[in-house]
Formats: sequence, structure tokens, C-alpha cells
Amino acid sequence: MQTESVVRLQKELEKGSALLVASVPGRFYLTGFETSDGYVLITPENAYFLIDFRYYEKAKELVKSCDVLLSNAALRQVSELCEENGISNLFVESEYASLSFFNSLKESVSPVSVSDDGRFDSLLREMRSVKTQRELELIREAQKLTDDTFSYILERIETGRTEREVMLDMEFYMRRLGSEGVSFDFIVVSGKNSSLPHGVPTDKIIERGDFLTMDFGAVVGGYRSDMTRTVAVGSVSDEQKRVYETVLKAQNAAIEAVRPGEICKDIDKIARDIINKAGYEGCFGHGLGHSVGIEIHEWPNFNTRCEAVLKPGTVMTVEPGIYLENRFGVRIEDMVFVTESGCENITKSEKRLICL
Ligand code: GLY
Ligand code: MN
Ligand code: MN
Repeated sequence: MQTESVVRLQKELEKGSALLVASVPGRFYLTGFETSDGYVLITPENAYFLIDFRYYEKAKELVKSCDVLLSNAALRQVSELCEENGISNLFVESEYASLSFFNSLKESVSPVSVSDDGRFDSLLREMRSVKTQRELELIREAQKLTDDTFSYILERIETGRTEREVMLDMEFYMRRLGSEGVSFDFIVVSGKNSSLPHGVPTDKIIERGDFLTMDFGAVVGGYRSDMTRTVAVGSVSDEQKRVYETVLKAQNAAIEAVRPGEICKDIDKIARDIINKAGYEGCFGHGLGHSVGIEIHEWPNFNTRCEAVLKPGTVMTVEPGIYLENRFGVRIEDMVFVTESGCENITKSEKRLICL
């Protein structure tokens, strides 16, 4: 799948132009090999992966989409390759390039001009937003580990345990199942802490009457999953139930509307309107969701601004929440795959309110 992406980019390059990909996710997308450093240089005719000694042996074995070159003075090599290939204009990923990288690249490759017009940022994000069968399979596998971890932890959540203990238990179990890492630092927040959408697990003890929100995901083959479940511990008040049911209703209505041709901000509005009409205006202060893949947050987004049109092959999260400051919060998050005619929910964990 990496070779097809490289060929697609080559087709977009005019004669005399090249693209330098230097970001971690960009390199992974085009080589299938995750490295902390290195460059992919794509010209209309050739593709090179410049990689240092730490990764070189493995890269030669794994990377099929590019010629693998041992690098020691990478930017000088980029300059030489530009000269060999008759390149006079070099595009960079402007969203990722720091100012200092941009300046040293300009100096190293001169007289080749360096272009930061963002053309290839948009193309790459659009390409990455439509998953191949293989990418989808990896995301499904990652979600399976996530669902399995949820079933496991449901048996182990009890009053007296702390948020951090639950988080560590989940992470250890998920990695033992085969996850390559965590898809992001797990959010495990209870009671008053559950009103913090991105709260950090603390030593707070889980108590009777708490909502416990767990937002977590696995990594398989470099691809991520993302799921949130909120469960009640011991008992649940009428107000907690009402908030939970409102979030669930908003989520189900938004998922129901996901299909090719829909505009992202309109999907966000469906969930937001339900929450607002239930009397919780101002309590859902984040976007409804985002695409997921190599990175946990990819383009496009379900929020009040994103005008992207949904396409088959895109994986999106749908994650409305209601957060009552200093009291409690609820978020429910699934990942859906946009099909030719609608969407498929690839998250299988129970969503009806669970009271443990
Ligand atoms: N935990 C990150 C997210 O759900 O977006
Ligand atoms: Mn999440
Ligand atoms: Mn998410």
C-alpha cells in the first residue's frame, strides 16, 4: 500500500519538482517503517528513503516503496539527489516543518527553491483519510483489543481502587493481548474528575455513586483505535441517568446520519442540537469526533467548522459528551467506518448504561 501512495504523489509532481517528507507519520505512511528520524524524497521518477545506521539494516528488509539509502549527512544528500534528478523546486510538509528546519533546508539545497504552500499537506491528509483494506483491518484489530480490554476491566472495577490502578491494569492487559503500545495516554477519571474531558488518572479512589470514564485505545501495525465508555459504580442518580441517556441519544443519532456525501459539521450539529435541546448548552465543549489512523487525531473532523465531505473508506470517531463542572461528566465514543451507503460501527462494546 505504501508503493501506491508513493506513485500517487509522483503523479502530482511536475517535472523538476520533488517532495520531501520529514514527519514521523508521513514517513511511516510512505515506508511502512516507523522511525524517529529520516527523510522520504520523492521525485517524478524516483523515491528515496534516507535513513541512519540505527534503522538501516531493518529498513533494507522492510521498505519496498523507496530506494533505501544510508544517511549520515541527510540534507547534503537531499541536495545531491535534487541535483542528480534535475530538481529545481522542493515541496515540504509545511504543517510539520519547524521554522529552523525550513531555514536549514533552504540553505542546504540552495539554489533549489523550497516551497511551503501546503499543497502536499492537503493531498497527504486526503490520501490518509481514505483507508485501504489493509489499514482498515489493522484498525479493526486494534479496536478488538480495545473491546477485549473493556470486558476485562469491567470485572475489575470496584470501589477502593484508584484511577491510576485501573489505568495501569488496562494498559498492562492490552499490551499483553498484543497491542504495540497505547494509542494515547489513557484517560481514566471518576466522580468529580469525570467532568474533565481530558483529565489525567490520579490516585483518587473510586467511590460508590461515581461515574467512571475510560478513554483508551490500542495500536496494531502502527494503526490506532479510540473508544470511550462511562460506567456507573454502585449506584446512579436520576440526573446521572438523564445525562447518560442524552449523550447516548446524541451519539446514536449522529452515527445514524454518517454516510458518504454528508458534511462533517452537519454531523456534529445533529449531536450538538440534541444535547443543547436537553438543556446542556455549553456542557459539550469539544468537537464530536475526528478521523483516526496512524495518528490518533487525523483529518477530517466532526466539529462546528469542518466542511469536509465524508467519503467511503474514512474512519471517524463519534464522541459526544456532557461535562458538569466539578460534578460529573459522561462521554461515549465509538469508531465508525464510512461505507458506500452509510457506515459500519467497528466498536462492539456495550453502550447501555452499566452499573457495576
Ligand atoms: N482520547 C482522545 C480522543 O478521544 O480524542
Ligand atoms: Mn478517545
Ligand atoms: Mn477520540
